[in-house]
Amino acid sequence: MGETQTYQVTGAALWQWRSQAMAAAIAAGIPPGEVDWLLQAVTPIDALALRLGTLAQQTAVELALPLAQLEALWQQRLRARVPVQYLVGKTHWRDWQLVVSPAVLIPRPETELIVDLAIATVQAASHPTDLAQGPWADLGTGSGAIALGLAAAFPQAQIYAVDVSAAALAIAACNIAHYQLQSRIQTYQGTWFEPLTFLRGQLAGMVANPPYIPTDWISTLQPEVAQHEPHLALDGGIDGLAAVRHLIQAAPAYLRAGGVWLVELMVGQAAIVANALQQHGQYDQIRIHTDWAGIDRFVSAYRVG
Ligand SMILES: C[S@@+](CC[C@H](N)C(=O)[O-])C[C@H]1O[C@@H](n2cnc3c(N)ncnc32)[C@H](O)[C@@H]1O
Repeated sequence: MGETQTYQVTGAALWQWRSQAMAAAIAAGIPPGEVDWLLQAVTPIDALALRLGTLAQQTAVELALPLAQLEALWQQRLRARVPVQYLVGKTHWRDWQLVVSPAVLIPRPETELIVDLAIATVQAASHPTDLAQGPWADLGTGSGAIALGLAAAFPQAQIYAVDVSAAALAIAACNIAHYQLQSRIQTYQGTWFEPLTFLRGQLAGMVANPPYIPTDWISTLQPEVAQHEPHLALDGGIDGLAAVRHLIQAAPAYLRAGGVWLVELMVGQAAIVANALQQHGQYDQIRIHTDWAGIDRFVSAYRVG
């Protein structure tokens, strides 16, 4: 009752499929390691059996789907350029295994840093203990990745995760429930601060990875992004900064004095945003932070007291 159907193939057959899939990946300019990612999602095979080749000697391997369907899935990766994370329905981010679907942006490795920056910005504040106790907002939460990161970083804080997309929030709720953090992270549907009016003047911090790609650039991005990730998560308007400008204008009404403003950006935007924060007049200690590639990726500031 309720058992999931599995399909058996010989290790030799699966090993042969893997070799062919890897060759096709290389020919298509796709990292061949993604084949193993897919295999590990649909079989109980571990990374070592793949690396050492012991898979080939196994008499029977259980598959979650028929081999022909696995091949069809891989063809979606090769031909339609569907990101492998959408094919397997999950991705790894910081310490979390997150469910993803085409309703949400696949959380990026560089975004992992925003949680470390939130911690560092709190530690550098004049009242770090107050800020660590929250509440915090993750605006444009998508898969809920940043909200989960904030909940782990600030164990005393309540986290408010907002997204305009109901489909994205359903994925965030699934990830939050998986880690049993429903009591710590509340999700709200709406535009930026709009569902959080009850928190006016109270937020210890606001973190956002908003859509920041200029509209005209989206079609020039790699097909995995342009054709499969939600444009709502990418499109930042004519210069990419429409959402960021709104967050600069709106945040002072929601942040308490000394509260943290922290946003992720794309290359070329950080100096513009730092300048806009300066011009606004209600922010101080404005800082630009680089990512692992040395790109000016984040801007942080505090609401003046
Ligand atoms: C770049 S994605 C970031 C997702 C996630 N925070 C991450 O870092 O992986 C931007 C998110 O902002 C959401 N979004 C777009 N417009 C919004 C709005 N007006 N109000 C709230 N969220 C919005 C999108 O649905 C998307 O989930």
